[in-house]
Amino acid sequence: MKNKNLIAIYDYTREEQTRLLDLAEEFEREPVQNILNGYVVATLFFEPSTRTRLSFESAANRLGARVIGFTDSASSSVKKGESLKDTILTVSNYADIIVMRHPRDGSARYASEVSPVPIINAGDGANQHPTQTLLDMYSIRKTQGTLENLQVAFVGDLKYGRTVHSLTMALTNYKTTFHLVSPGELKLPSYVKTHIKEKDLKYHQYTNMDEAIRKADILYMTRIQKERFSDPIEYERVKNAYILNKELLENAKENMKVLHPLPRVNEISEEVDANPMAYYFRQAENGVYIRQALLASILGVK
Ligand code: CP
Repeated sequence: MKNKNLIAIYDYTREEQTRLLDLAEEFEREPVQNILNGYVVATLFFEPSTRTRLSFESAANRLGARVIGFTDSASSSVKKGESLKDTILTVSNYADIIVMRHPRDGSARYASEVSPVPIINAGDGANQHPTQTLLDMYSIRKTQGTLENLQVAFVGDLKYGRTVHSLTMALTNYKTTFHLVSPGELKLPSYVKTHIKEKDLKYHQYTNMDEAIRKADILYMTRIQKERFSDPIEYERVKNAYILNKELLENAKENMKVLHPLPRVNEISEEVDANPMAYYFRQAENGVYIRQALLASILGVK
């Protein structure tokens, strides 16, 4: 995996993904290792982030690397009109690897085509979020003991939710049955459903979440992505479509875990946080180990 970009989850084979999950387990057992001493990691965030940026920076710091970057493109020369290409070419002089989040679909792929150093996509528009997918897979494997033959329910904004797109594609390697719960206008895009169909797997679509909750081993809640709507009235219509509460979990399987890439707005009531099925803050913690595995592998030290 040395120097290999990670732009979409399917850029890495199932075997490469498994290797990263195994390596993340090693980092969870021993998170502080001075194996990236002398390396510089750049984090370029053209869009807001808490978990992805800070867990990458925590991962780099715990492995002895230095971190440079910006959290707001308005504080960089992009504000003066500098192109993405020129920004990437410039930063590649200062860093060994670039972690980039950008609001435009396809921007990470473009950056990888012009960059002399590896690019990790930390989310590009409504397209892909492959490092989130790896930590989601890690969380699923850790809580269920396997990734095979699971019933996975996705709830919320399946149209604009990039974490849903990446994770669905990844789970098609594991005989998953998909339960897709969304308002009619926020259904999973057909190009993602094509990945499911190509693997001869089943998906069921719902507008109500009760039945999907009863069947699920994993309940993957998502935020309605306000920032992707062109019409604010349309957002207002769907913003409260799904709110998970304690009562709804009463009919869930015992092994079921609730995941959410976070941030949440109101789609999971805070009363759920104390329920043993709630796993989303542990899921965010797992992001550090997966990102340690990615940095170490792509920089060629593991
Ligand atoms: N899950 C996730 O991408 O969170 P942030 O937007 O806070 O990075």
